[in-house]
Amino acid sequence: MTTNKKLVAVAAALLIANAFSAQPARAEGDAEAGKDLGYTCLGCHGIDGYRNAYPSYRVPKLGGQKAAYIIVALEGYRANTRQHPTMNAQATSLSDQQIEDVAAYLASIGAETVAAGGSDGVNFVKAQACTACHGNNGVSVNAVWPTLAGQHEDYLKHALSSYRDGSRGDPVMGAQAALIADEDVAVLAKYFASLDGLETTKSE
Ligand code: HEC
Ligand code: HEC
Repeated sequence: MTTNKKLVAVAAALLIANAFSAQPARAEGDAEAGKDLGYTCLGCHGIDGYRNAYPSYRVPKLGGQKAAYIIVALEGYRANTRQHPTMNAQATSLSDQQIEDVAAYLASIGAETVAAGGSDGVNFVKAQACTACHGNNGVSVNAVWPTLAGQHEDYLKHALSSYRDGSRGDPVMGAQAALIADEDVAVLAKYFASLDGLETTKSE
């Protein structure tokens, strides 16, 4: 191997190691400091079945979602790499610290972070391709990957369609979504929504 190739191999190994390490290195968020900001969020995320208007689908449940994934999502909205007019507006002026704090606040109320286990695992053959990352029960195996169990069916369908048409870009999930057959999008959304897991976050 030439030195260059070796360097590339080492860099690739590091990237993979980073992508699979359980927790990114971050300062702890302060739930108390995130409270005021969190109230704004609950105006939509804290109301059962609250809908996004166009297109119509339910606002995603955050109760029990991994805090580290909430941070990743907010950073995406802030950087405009993940697009949604309302969420872009919510995130645009947030500092790193505010993102950490509001994620800590949201994680501190309502549902406990959903723990893996508690069922026999995926008993639906089409979902087996998803378990390596989203877990046996739809509870993600890595804190920066989203838990799907119990999420709103229409939101899951919307998210899968967005990866498939490229309007939500993500190198990992985009590649996965491209492999799903058209008729399985709705089937997979229905399956993961049916599992025990996420809840609508309520303020105390
Ligand atoms: C006006 C309603 C509204 C408000 C207020 C709002 N959100 Fe959202 N939020 C949404 C909608 C709709 C989506 C789904 C957008 C999409 O499809 O990407 C979303 C998506 C998210 C996601 C991604 C969830 C996932 O599963 O990927 C996170 C995290 C989030 N919001 C956090 C927040 C936080 C934190 C606040 C407060 C600072 C907030 N939201 C305020 C409507 C709202
Ligand atoms: C190699 C790992 C991997 C596999 C396998 C995988 N996903 Fe994902 N998935 C991810 C990552 C990473 C994200 C978050 C991407 C982002 O930030 O937009 C994601 C996001 C999602 C979301 C959006 C959740 C939300 O809250 O917005 C859905 C829905 C989803 N995946 C469904 C599936 C389904 C269904 C399968 C199986 C057909 C699958 N995934 C297979 C890694 C994976």
